[in-house]
Amino acid sequence: MDIALLGGTGDIGEGLALRWANDTDHTVIIGSRDVEKAEAAAEEYEAALGDSDSEATVDGRTNEEAASRADVVVTAVPAYHLTDTVEAVAEQLGDAILVSPAVGMKHDEDGFHYNRPGVGSVTELAAKAAPEDTPVVGAFHNLAAGRLADLEAELDWDTIVVGDDRDAKATVSELAEGIDGLRALDGGPLANAAEVEGLTPLLINVARHNDGLHDLGVQFH
Ligand SMILES: NC(=O)c1ccc[n+]([C@@H]2O[C@H](COP(=O)([O-])OP(=O)(O)OC[C@H]3O[C@@H](n4cnc5c(N)ncnc54)[C@H](OP(=O)(O)O)[C@@H]3O)[C@@H](O)[C@H]2O)c1
Repeated sequence: MDIALLGGTGDIGEGLALRWANDTDHTVIIGSRDVEKAEAAAEEYEAALGDSDSEATVDGRTNEEAASRADVVVTAVPAYHLTDTVEAVAEQLGDAILVSPAVGMKHDEDGFHYNRPGVGSVTELAAKAAPEDTPVVGAFHNLAAGRLADLEAELDWDTIVVGDDRDAKATVSELAEGIDGLRALDGGPLANAAEVEGLTPLLINVARHNDGLHDLGVQFH
């Protein structure tokens, strides 16, 4: 499959790009608002893959070009910029599946808190911004980017996948499980996305308050 990571120059984009390039045969395309930034990130990721004895290549493109070439488009951008980012690539999406890992959070002296948008969740915000016939799936919300990007690190994580289109959800679950140490769990329809997104600030708060814990993920037994 061809996977585009919009804003793939950032933290979660880097982690997912490295894992898919290293662990699978999928084609990874880094998207950015700035093509030179995308090309520089792609070069940097190839160097990191090389350090890990992988000969995988990664492509850098504008977000629009990346979306136009992909079967699956991941919106790896801050929640506040999600709507603009989806609208910017709407005409290029074609038959692609749109995947949102984005979580809205606010931060105060007590810690991180889930910032639930009026439509219910950030994933539903992506669905609202996407063309009507584009299947939208929520996944990867609770993965810690730093650990993903460390190819030496074992994951042993679950990722909860939500969506209303069964086929799209199955495709994204398969892509998730292509990453070594990641298990995809069905979290039900898009309407359940808020509960999944709300776990992310919890993981960050627990890591901050417990020595030796960082880059936490979840695993269900
Ligand atoms: N970091 C994590 O551990 C983690 C884990 C799970 C989920 N997430 C979610 O994944 C999303 C991305 O997180 P991140 O930590 O990777 O974010 P980030 O590094 O801060 O940003 C990712 C990319 O977003 C693009 N961007 C920044 N401002 C933008 C704007 N105004 N309009 C359009 N694009 C813009 C930038 O790409 P260009 O400048 O190249 O366009 C940037 O490299 C967030 O919604 C976050 O909640 C993050």
